[in-house]
Amino acid sequence: MKDEIKHLQSPLSLTGGCISWPGVCYWGDDALASAIQAAGPRLRHPLVVTDAAVWRAVGPAVQLSLATAPGLQWHVYDGVSPNPTLAQVRAALDRARAQGCASIVAVGGGSAIDVAKLVFACLAGGLAVEELPTPRGQAWLAAAAMPDDPLFLAIPTTAGTGSESSSAALIQGEDGRKRLFRSLRTRPALVALQPQLTLSLPFGPTAQGGFDALLHALGAWVNTDPSPIGKAMALHALRLCLQAYPAVLRTPDSLQARAEMQMGAYMAGVAIGMSKVDAVHGMCTPLEARMHMAHAEVLAPVFSVVARYTVQTHARPYADAARALGMAHTGGDQRDALALIEAVESLARQGRIATRFADLRLSDQDAGQLAAQALQSASTPLNPRPLMLEEIKSLYLQLAM
Ligand SMILES: [Fe+2]
Repeated sequence: MKDEIKHLQSPLSLTGGCISWPGVCYWGDDALASAIQAAGPRLRHPLVVTDAAVWRAVGPAVQLSLATAPGLQWHVYDGVSPNPTLAQVRAALDRARAQGCASIVAVGGGSAIDVAKLVFACLAGGLAVEELPTPRGQAWLAAAAMPDDPLFLAIPTTAGTGSESSSAALIQGEDGRKRLFRSLRTRPALVALQPQLTLSLPFGPTAQGGFDALLHALGAWVNTDPSPIGKAMALHALRLCLQAYPAVLRTPDSLQARAEMQMGAYMAGVAIGMSKVDAVHGMCTPLEARMHMAHAEVLAPVFSVVARYTVQTHARPYADAARALGMAHTGGDQRDALALIEAVESLARQGRIATRFADLRLSDQDAGQLAAQALQSASTPLNPRPLMLEEIKSLYLQLAM
């Protein structure tokens, strides 16, 4: 019997690791009310961090729920925009300090939650925004969450980045480069996944967010990180995302499809919080800073080139996923892996996300600089096929052809 059980991943790593479970998450029709009730007195004088369009759409519903907390008063910072900046973190923090806020509520997509993470760090750690990259700031971010840390409640209104459950915050610095801050301590302690709040999301952000979640799940599954919990979470997230993505595009007013997409994105966020991603995301981040395109619009072409290059020598994890999810059974790793890659590319097209760049020009020097930046990502070295600087550079040049 034992011989019949096929290992989907490498044997359990004996070098060990650390599993840090995310906080409390409510999902479903009453998620918001349940989360606010669960917060109790820890939800004290919060600053709501959001963007103006989201706040116009869901602000009334969120405020109605906040008003059920006895005597609660809140302030709102609605200046977050896509590709958020450190200047927005500073402005929100100034508001929080000026108003004496003692907890944080993020309402929105990844941008609002990412800004809220750094505002939370500065507020809880007594830090200035400039101190975040310094040893003092990094020490606070690297420490474990403490029981007396202020409450951080996240109310996602998109299904995509998984910022509500991941340890990452991607913020653009003063030099225009995006900087990834990783901290388990800034992961929201309380999350409300209420699918109704995503019903009004238009086709574009729905497709782009869903595709991002899909590649988080796939990246966390195929990469070389050994966490068994991360892998289990990634595979189930991949299953949910693959099922929910076409459904949510076809029937955007289906609460069922919205709820499954939201849970897929949340679980993918948990997976990347434990296992990180792969070179697809590692190479995407430096390119995004110069392309000014949506995250998913950069991800799709990078995925197509990097995944196809990776499976030339390391098809196994892709093939294992394809078989585990019932997408391919040819018995050949290469063919099964390519079946999964083609399915993902087909989903991109369903979401009207191009899998090739229409107008990307890179010089040899540009590609070299991008490759050097991609190698700084913690996810790039986890790619199933190890990638050297020259290989990454040639992959960038291939993207520009
Ligand atoms: Fe992403």
